[in-house]
Amino acid sequence: MPGKILVTGGTGFIGSHTCVVLLENDYDVLIVDNLSNSNVEVVDKIAQITGKTPHFTKLDLCDEKSLTDFFTDNPGIDGVIHFAAYKAVGESSEFPLKYYHNNLLGMINLLKTMDQAGCDKMVFSSSCTVYGQPDVLPVTEDAPLKKAFSPYGNTKKICEDILQDQVGSTALKGIALRYFNPIGAHESALIGELPLGIPNNLVPYLTQTAIGKRESLKVFGNDYNTHDGTGIRDYIHVMDLARAHLDAINRLISKKYKEEYEIFNLGTGTGYSVLDIILTFEKVNGVKVNYEFVDRRPGDIEKVWADPSKANSELGWKAESGLEDMLRSAWKWEKSLLK
Ligand code: UFG
Repeated sequence: MPGKILVTGGTGFIGSHTCVVLLENDYDVLIVDNLSNSNVEVVDKIAQITGKTPHFTKLDLCDEKSLTDFFTDNPGIDGVIHFAAYKAVGESSEFPLKYYHNNLLGMINLLKTMDQAGCDKMVFSSSCTVYGQPDVLPVTEDAPLKKAFSPYGNTKKICEDILQDQVGSTALKGIALRYFNPIGAHESALIGELPLGIPNNLVPYLTQTAIGKRESLKVFGNDYNTHDGTGIRDYIHVMDLARAHLDAINRLISKKYKEEYEIFNLGTGTGYSVLDIILTFEKVNGVKVNYEFVDRRPGDIEKVWADPSKANSELGWKAESGLEDMLRSAWKWEKSLLK
């Protein structure tokens, strides 16, 4: 079954781990990335892990001409896994047009050039942010979508709609994967999350605090209606997430889909609070983390976790790593950055 897969954003956090899984499963992998939030050295790390070198092209999806040329120069692409997008929630509220321009134009150009090239399969990187604060937990794929809290979240929602509309009017088949909170790193610690500047997300901030790059982790709010007052999320190991992309692209290529456009939640089904994360991190890694409680972060929801049963039964996928494994690998990765 393996064929040729284009991975946009393939040098990024989730993209790079997905490239590893695809190569290990005998797919030919072509990466396009504009390197706006990643490093070209990741390509060598992927090669080091897998013994196979993905084809890399530095390319911005907003540049339609270059994208068209890319498809002309690389015929026979069987499917696309589309990660490339801006993803900083806070920055998106500060510069909404930057986010709408990049994330929507990238998607439109990609779908357009795929159509011209006769490439009819896309797996799209979406987010549980489209649910906002769900009324019912765990959240299933048919939960009503809420108004997005940020322009970033809105771009995910709009891109899902664009994909669905394009599926409805062309030969395209699409799968949108709604990720919960990806953390951790490849066990080799050769690839992982590389936040530029001050991290926005909990786990990179936590590991940077533990290693001494940051003074103290700010816990945003301890007055939520949860077991310890801190916010709850469904954290998922990035390698589990990467395997789900393999299952999704296999499903499209082997025509096992039930509908031409499908959506899957990717989470473990278990929610942990911020304090659960800190305490588990300290326990499994034997390090202390300075932390303090501060006000709630604007735009944060109280709690969310997935009902992943559709992905379990339809994709045949299940998250395998527990929280301890995820936090061990996150710490190993942070320490590897010192070298
Ligand atoms: N948190 C802290 N301190 C920090 C960072 C985060 O207490 O320094 C807390 C947050 O308040 C939240 C939890 O840790 O309760 C997780 O926060 P993250 O920023 O790691 O993740 P979010 O759930 O806010 O956001 C993630 C992704 C987004 C995506 C969103 C969907 O980063 O891309 O999930 O809900 F849109």
